[in-house]
Amino acid sequence: MDWGLKNRLARIIKPYDNRGVMLAVDHGYFLGPTERLEEPKKTISPLLPHADSLMLTRGVLRTSVDAGYPIPVVLRVSGGSSIIGKDLSNEKITTSIKDAIKLNVSALAMSIFVGAPYEHESLVSLGKLVNEGEEYGIPVLAVTAVGKELEKRDARYLSLACRIAAEFGAHLVKTYYCDNFEKVVRSCPVPVIIAGGPKLATELDALKLTFDAIQAGAAGVDMGRNIWQSDHPVPMIKAVKAIVHQNATVKEAQDVFNRLKSIEKTAKPVIKSKTKS
Ligand code: R5P
Repeated sequence: MDWGLKNRLARIIKPYDNRGVMLAVDHGYFLGPTERLEEPKKTISPLLPHADSLMLTRGVLRTSVDAGYPIPVVLRVSGGSSIIGKDLSNEKITTSIKDAIKLNVSALAMSIFVGAPYEHESLVSLGKLVNEGEEYGIPVLAVTAVGKELEKRDARYLSLACRIAAEFGAHLVKTYYCDNFEKVVRSCPVPVIIAGGPKLATELDALKLTFDAIQAGAAGVDMGRNIWQSDHPVPMIKAVKAIVHQNATVKEAQDVFNRLKSIEKTAKPVIKSKTKS
């Protein structure tokens, strides 16, 4: 692997434990103003110090993230369909490698739609993006997207999609957690990270999901809604991070969440007293 590519990948999957916490905030590219991501800057800013990397589009990067903040960026470069359109799998590469380089990104990300009507186009796009990424030393994250068919998320389908992504040269694959997730990880020769998916009923459910994925061999998370749709996003990302980087148990992570949540509650705003001078 080229030095530059290896160096960029190390910003995302930390070499000291081969794991990473990626904060996903790219949802607007097909969902528009997703709940609690209506004003991206407000959602992203408090979470930035706690994420290893940030996954988003160039539009939100340029408008909502301070260029002076040293967070590694995973740039979503595919799109072309919306949640109200005909077919979510009809995506193409929408951002040039030149723009990605100008934005100093650490990785490029795109979705593949295995088994969907535009399977062929998305896989050929992945091959082309890897070619370009390899040329400039930028790794590619392949997202195994299921569109609206969330029921597709089983080990048989996800191991097929992840393996195909790796065969096309993706350096990192994002998929969903499922029963028998070990099979997905075992048969994919590059690191696999998990999306959180739609917000689960409780934070505890999301922490269990994270723990089970890590136990089964995931290299980390690329999590969005289960962090920033929580009423306590900072305690939540810190609890997720404790599982990913400190091997915390679900109970330990839940304790982190509850402790930080209670500190948040008791922290009173500082009101400056008006003294006569
Ligand atoms: C979906 O295609 C987007 O790329 C999201 O980044 C991904 O689903 C992860 O976010 P969440 O944890 O909210 O599912």
